[in-house]
This record gives sequence, structure tokens and C-alpha cells, in this order.
Amino acid sequence: MTKTEKFRKDYMPPDFKASDIHLTFQIFNDHTRVTSKTNYVRQNNQAAEIFLDGSHQNLISVSVNNKILSEGEYKKTDDGLKIPLTTDATIEIISDNHPAQNTSLEGLYQSNGIYCTQCEAEAFRKITYFIDRPDNMCLFTTRIEADKKSNPILLSNGNLIDSGELNNNRHFAVWHDPFPKPCYLFALVAGDLEFIRDSFTTFKGLVVDLKIFARKNEIDQCAWAMESLKLSMAWDEKVYGRDYQHKQFNIVAVSDFNFGAMENTSLNIFNSACVLAKPETATDRDFMAIQAIIAHEYFHNWSGNRVTCRDWFQLSLKEGLTVFRDQEFTADHYSQNVQRIDCVAQLRARQFVEDAGPLAHPIRPDSYIEMNNFYTSTVYEKGAEVIRMMRTIIGNDNYRKATDLYFDRHDGQAVTCDDFVQCMVDATQENFDQFKLWYAQAGTPQVTIESHYDEATKSLKIKAEQVIPETPNQINKLPMVIPLATNLIAKNGATILPEDKLFILREQTEIFTISNVPADSTLSILRGFSAPIILHNKTQSDDDLYYLSMYDSDGFNRWDSAQKIYSHIINSFIHDDVTTLPECFKDFIDHILSETTKPGADLALLARVLTQPDYTSLTLGKNNVTPAAIVIAGQCLNGLIYQAFSEKILNLIDQFSDITTYSPDTASMARRAIKRALIKFASVASSNHDLFYNLYQNANNMTDRMMILGSIIDGTSEIRQKILSEFYNSYKDYPLVIDKWFSAQASAVRPEIFDDVKMLAAHSDFGLTNPNRVRSLYGAFFNNNPKYFYDETGKGFKILDNLIPTLDEINPQTTARLLTSVGAWHTLNPTLQNKIKETLITILSNQNLSPNTREIGEKLLRG
Ligand code: ARG
Ligand code: ZN
Repeated sequence: MTKTEKFRKDYMPPDFKASDIHLTFQIFNDHTRVTSKTNYVRQNNQAAEIFLDGSHQNLISVSVNNKILSEGEYKKTDDGLKIPLTTDATIEIISDNHPAQNTSLEGLYQSNGIYCTQCEAEAFRKITYFIDRPDNMCLFTTRIEADKKSNPILLSNGNLIDSGELNNNRHFAVWHDPFPKPCYLFALVAGDLEFIRDSFTTFKGLVVDLKIFARKNEIDQCAWAMESLKLSMAWDEKVYGRDYQHKQFNIVAVSDFNFGAMENTSLNIFNSACVLAKPETATDRDFMAIQAIIAHEYFHNWSGNRVTCRDWFQLSLKEGLTVFRDQEFTADHYSQNVQRIDCVAQLRARQFVEDAGPLAHPIRPDSYIEMNNFYTSTVYEKGAEVIRMMRTIIGNDNYRKATDLYFDRHDGQAVTCDDFVQCMVDATQENFDQFKLWYAQAGTPQVTIESHYDEATKSLKIKAEQVIPETPNQINKLPMVIPLATNLIAKNGATILPEDKLFILREQTEIFTISNVPADSTLSILRGFSAPIILHNKTQSDDDLYYLSMYDSDGFNRWDSAQKIYSHIINSFIHDDVTTLPECFKDFIDHILSETTKPGADLALLARVLTQPDYTSLTLGKNNVTPAAIVIAGQCLNGLIYQAFSEKILNLIDQFSDITTYSPDTASMARRAIKRALIKFASVASSNHDLFYNLYQNANNMTDRMMILGSIIDGTSEIRQKILSEFYNSYKDYPLVIDKWFSAQASAVRPEIFDDVKMLAAHSDFGLTNPNRVRSLYGAFFNNNPKYFYDETGKGFKILDNLIPTLDEINPQTTARLLTSVGAWHTLNPTLQNKIKETLITILSNQNLSPNTREIGEKLLRG
């Protein structure tokens, strides 16, 4: 099936809108009969027909105002139904779905025997024929009928208003959602599930019934998600004044899911990887990610559901805002500095790469073929940066006024990004006209600064110049609004300005001046990463970098300066044949290692300062990249650090191995993070493997186990084999842990990897229908193993090439996403570029490729 490109500029309000829909799902073993009865109101008095989106179902009958239409009275196409209509009308559609065969995991499908739905973006149309667009908001009533024994739990959005017994051991439940919603927020779940239960009382006194559903053997892993949910509800009340207004909030964990989770009104459906956690099976990172995703989906209740998107081009309206909200939630519960570091690291590794390549697009795209391909890091994470900059510019209090206005003005509406910015304007009188270029222009702005200190006047002049790179379909860009939070660090480590100064770069070139600057103070700019840009500081010396990495009061800039130091050294290994460490670098490492034992040290921050940049950040802005060279240089750096500090590192590992009971609290997570960084250094010496094996066996939690597994995985030692098989035997009943086992092996930097991947793909626990498992093997190999995925023989690409057509037939969404792994292919050396080009051409020569995968493949190839 081919799909046509849709353009933002072509938006037209719908000719008809639904006012209410009554759905009946009759679930049987081999099919589910769906009856939808919808009242449509004519909006456009010129309209002569109604078009209902629909596909992937067997249409049984169509009735208008209770009269069944004959086949000549409507027209069925590949993607819907055209029915002549010039008035308001009630349309009833009966069709059959086949959830057990639906491996695309969109629409109504079965996961491990559980019936569930995923409708965002445009998959409600796979369930029944309907006007499937987010500005068509209506009231939903849903009746579910199913066998009582196999499907004791029957859930949908809103409130349970009726339930009871039917003949043949069947039962039913009727749910009604009192708030109008677009159909992408519809959800249904039926199956044999258990639940845990709690409640939350809102500041208005409403007692909300909270439940988390999972399969029986997983129900002991839901407590953390429940705690996270209650924290999220309290935070949204406190920070945004937003209370929950449904009587129930349900979360369901399912095993087969294309991405993280989905915010369906009062019935969130989650990838089980984003819900289930206990210390024996989940790492610190899992605990944190789960908390953030629970918060994210909960926050959508206001930013997304109560106020939704007019059309899919506006996706960042809800996603950018909601990511920003979940980032701040995490920052408030852990640490502002560290949260900022983690999210910038991720932004650089994913969004900056996307923005610099053939898939670059603005946070509000101008066109799409397959909307599912636009759930990108740009729309989500850069979208969040754009909201953050607005808050930085107007300040916290004004930002709160503006969001109050937004939620108040647009409650119950489907709106645009312009409507959001207008609320920022109306609440503050700030002019955001130029700022709005952030919604329209793709590409990461490059800002170059030069600073000059004038001894006589004691003033520092900072010259800033911005360049916005060309991106596909966009050349000649206009200067953007770039907030630069700035301060100065004195020689005694003190921060000179009592508050950061916010310079806002609006012209292509501007000069900013700070007066009363003591001589020999160090400039600290882009503090807290105040704008999503690439900053080149031409007048920054190595001394400045070392100084900031040790003393800057802004944790983000400490980390960022350290990242620059590491990458300078790695580059010198690659290009200048240097293989020793400069003394100042050793002093820096020594300083940080010693700092870890000082009372009150920010260990979470130090752990990040001790961590080298990841592969992707090292490639940013580079051309003619040979991935193997970067990986080898990184290993070499690790080895030299260990050589210089082995005794200190081993002592510290011992000191930081003191925690006996596991808890995912900030302090103990930080200690484990330090330990992980130290073990990474120590892993270069195989003489440490016995020690590691010992640590592995004494570990009582998954965080410790995974740090050991990760540290021995590259080699061929006996200990490696021992740990791998012990790990497998201990966790074979925990699919999410077995995912970790697959991905650790797929990330192993060892020449045997090609056989390893083959063997793992043939493993009895491997299969292509579960996206988590697919990502754990192939996603890990394509994204975490650059040395071998980009092997010059092309063996890595062969694996991609073999996988894509097969996986695409099963699950187009997950396939298209995996193909973006080669999104930075244009930055590689010519040999690799040619090999990838050939691979893409072969992939695209398959006529049966899904529109999802084809769109990505063609964009990649077009470059
Ligand atoms: N709205 C969901 C979330 O951000 C994600 C939906 C992704 N949908 C998709 N078709 N890729 O929480
Ligand atoms: Zn979201």
C-alpha cells in the first residue's frame, strides 16, 4: 500500500464531527466483532459526503440512520468509506478484527493473551471506520463482552457504568468517559490480569481509585510504579496547579509494545519494561526511567488529553511540553544538575544527530507520509528544550501564569503550537515572534563566542555569532533567539555574579558586556545548557576547561567541560598518534577521584564527570568518521587512566561496595554510579576478573550485576562464560532481564560478535514479534556496537539488510525505527558510506516494504 504525503499548510477543519460514539466489542477466540454507532454533526454546509477512515478489518455492514446501505450506496477504498451525506446522521458500522494475527501492535491486538489497543497516531481506523483525526473530539461509551474465565478483567476509558453476566459463561462491562476526546486516546484492555490498588486524594477532595494491572507472576513488580504515580499526581498539583478529575486511574502493563507507553484517558497502557521493577530484576536506570515515564503519561492527562492537538503536525504541543514537565519532575526528585546532564547527553546522542542528517525536521514538521515516523527525538526532546527556553526567558512565575492561562483557555479543545505560544505572550506581554522560528527551522544552531577582557575598564566583552546549518528542504535560515545563561568563576572557585546573567542572542552577531569583572576569572557560559545549540568558545583555553571541570558551580558546565577534555584527548589519540596522558589530565582525574571521598561530595555528578563521552557525541560535527578508530581511542584512554590510577581505583571500588541493602534512593544510586565508573576503568585489566566474579556473586541487586556483566562482556574469559550462563539460569523466567542478557552480548566489542549475533538470533528465547526482544539484540548491535556494526567488511550491514524485510512484514513501526540507526551514515568514511548506500538500495528494492520503512529509507538515501 502506498501512502501520500500530507502537508501542514493544507489543514482544513473537518466537514463532519462526531458528537458521541457507542462502541461494542464482542470478543471471541478467533475474532472480535466491533459495532460502532456514531452521531455525526455536519460542520460544513457545502459537504455532500462523509469520509470515514478505516482499514485492516472485515467490514460487515454500514447503516445510516438505522437503514443498512447496499454496496452501491457507499464507496469502499483502501483507506476508508465514502458515504453521500448532506445532513447530521447516525452511522453504524459493524466489522471484524483479528487481534491474535495483528503483529503490527497498532489497533486492537493480543499480547501474551491480553487484548489491548494502541491508537495513536492513526490506528483507531484499524478498529472501526471513523473520522480519525485529533480535532474530532467526542464522548465515548464502550461495551465489552468476553468469556469470563479467560478475560475476567474488562477495561476502557472513564468510569465503569454497568457490568454483568451473559449466557455461555460470558460477561460484559460498560465504560463511559465523561470528557470528549479524540479517538487516538481510546483504549480497551481485556484479559486475565491481577492488580494492585491504592488511592490519591486531590486538593479538591476527590478520592481517585488507582490500579496497576499486570500478569499474575509480575504483580510483585508494580509497587514502584504506584509510588511514582502518586508522586506525579502530587507534583502536578503543586507545580502546575493541575488536579486529576476522573474517579479512576488505571495502568496496564503489556509485554508487546512498540514504544514506551500511551496516555489513553484514565487507562494508560505501558510497555511492561516501563512499569515492572524490583531490585533483583531492575537497575537504578530502570527505576528512574519507570518513574519518569509514569510521570510523563500521567502529565499528559492535562498536556495532551484535556488540551489536545488540532492535527498531528502539532505533536510537539503535547510531547515537547510533557517531556519538559517530566524532566522537571525528575529534577525535583533527584538533582537539577544531574538530570540536566543526563537529558543533554541524550539530546546530543539522539536529537543532535537527527538534526544534522537526512532525517532532520523542525519540531513542528511541515509534512509527513507516516505519522508514526515523527515520534522523534526532535519533536520530543528538542520540543522540550523549546519550552524550557521560553520559561528561562520569562521566568518561573510568569511561566506558571502562562500555563495556567493555557490550560484554562483551551481545556476541552484541540489546539496548535501557536495557541500555546500565544498564552506565553498574553500572560507576559513578551514578544515571541522571532522565537517561534524554533518551531519552524530545523538544524542545531552553532554559536561561536570570543571573549575579550579589558584590564583598564575591568569589563569582559563577549562576541557571539550564530549560524543555522542547512537541512533537507531548508536553506537560508534566519537568526534565532538563543538565551545564554552566563557567569564568571573566580580563582578561589567562587561564582562572581550573584545570579546568572541571561544574554539573549537575537541577531546573527552581537556583543555582550559584563562590567566589574575581576582579572583572572573564568567565563562560564551556556550554564545549565540554556539553549539546545552547539557552542564553540574560541577563546577558551585548556586551562579554562580544566578549571571549570573542577570548580564551576554549575554542575552541567563542570560535566560539559570534562566531556570536552575527554574528547580532545581521544581526538589526539586518533589524529596525532599521541598515546600518553598529559599531566594536567592526570591531575584532573586525580582531583575527581579524591573528591569522591570528601564529605558532602555530589557523587552523582562526579560519576558523570568520570564518564567518557559516548560514541555518538564524539562523532558530532565530524566527517569521514571511522567508528572503529573512535572506539579504540576510547578504550585506550580508559586503559591509560587505569594504568595511572589502578591502586586508587581498586581502593575506591572497595570503599564504594559498602551498601548492603538495595534502595533506589538518590544517595545510594550515586554511590553505585561511582562504582560503575570505577569498574569500567578497572575492566581493562583481566587480572581484575576474579574480583568482578566475586562482586557478581555477592551482588543482591540487578544494578550491581549489570555493571559487572557489562565490564566482562568484551573479552573471551572463562569468567565471562560463567557469568553469562549463571545470569541466564537465574533469570530465564524474567523476559525483561533476558532482554538485558541479549543486549549485553550484542554490545560486546569483540571480533566474535558476528557469530554471537547469529547464535543469539537462533536462540530459543529469541523472536521477532516482541519489540523489546528485537531491540535488545538488533537495536543494541546497531546502536551500541559501532566498532563492529560499522565493520569495513560490511558484515554488520548484512545483518541489517537480512533483518529489515522480514521484520517489516511483522511490525512496520519497529522496523522503521530500527532503520534510523544508520541516520548518521553521511558522516562516515567513503568506504562505509558506499556500503550503507548499497544496503539502503537493496532494502528499498523490495516492493512490499511498508510505507513506514520506505519513508525512512528514502529519506536516508536522498541525504
Ligand atoms: N504519546 C505516547 C507518549 O509519548 C507515545 C506514542 C507513540 N506513538 C507512536 N505511534 N509512535 O507517551
Ligand atoms: Zn508523550
